[in-house]
Amino acid sequence: MTYLSPWRATVLTLFPEMFPGPLGMSLAGKALASGLWALEARDIRDSATDRHRSVDDTPAGGGPGMVLRADVLAAAIDAAENVPDRPENRPRLLMSPRGRPLTQSCVVELAGGPGPLIVCGRFEGVDQRVIAARALEEVSIGDYVLSGGEIAAMVLIEACVRLLPGVMGKPVSGEEESFADGLLEYPQYTRPQEFEGLSIPEILTSGDHARVAAWRRAEAEALTQTRRPDLWAAKNSGQKLPKNTTKG
Ligand code: ADE
Repeated sequence: MTYLSPWRATVLTLFPEMFPGPLGMSLAGKALASGLWALEARDIRDSATDRHRSVDDTPAGGGPGMVLRADVLAAAIDAAENVPDRPENRPRLLMSPRGRPLTQSCVVELAGGPGPLIVCGRFEGVDQRVIAARALEEVSIGDYVLSGGEIAAMVLIEACVRLLPGVMGKPVSGEEESFADGLLEYPQYTRPQEFEGLSIPEILTSGDHARVAAWRRAEAEALTQTRRPDLWAAKNSGQKLPKNTTKG
């Protein structure tokens, strides 16, 4: 399906001033400025209703930290969705270390849709009832804990934006890179020919495109086998890599 309006990320956060941050620079930033994609950072606190504008409270059952309130976050999500020209059926994601791992195939799928609404968690977590009531899909960028979902959201957005039509210089660079075929990327070299006694592998300067392609493939396979036996096993069993089920 193609969408007339540009791919759009809507981010719900307690720190909207963190955006666009690094997404305003380099390839993503140029594409943002030229309208190839759109970014909207919305302050969850704008949906608070009490006089202190509180967004969190202590965890039921006790324990450390604070939990993001279901009512405030639900209102923030509803406000973000009840806006004219909002894409229908966009994925609704919650950045969380307990979520489904973000993979290149999830990224390809998200980049092909209208663009997600992304909730950035903070504190100890988010009230479970809003995750269920607004069908938030939890997504993790890795097995480590950040203090909030903002940087994780930026990672996800950056990975998607570089795949949007017109953003990367040459479309082929996206097809050949790591994970495109379930393999890590082969080593790259450039001038000078000689660096601290090390030369560029002779095949790469031979001009023989078939030998270059075969060498690169073999290097990519060898790297994947040694560094990522999990990817190698998944590729050879014909099994799909963990795939996000988000539907745009
Ligand atoms: N928020 C905190 N840690 C995170 C992680 N690893 N991935 C996504 N969101 C997070």
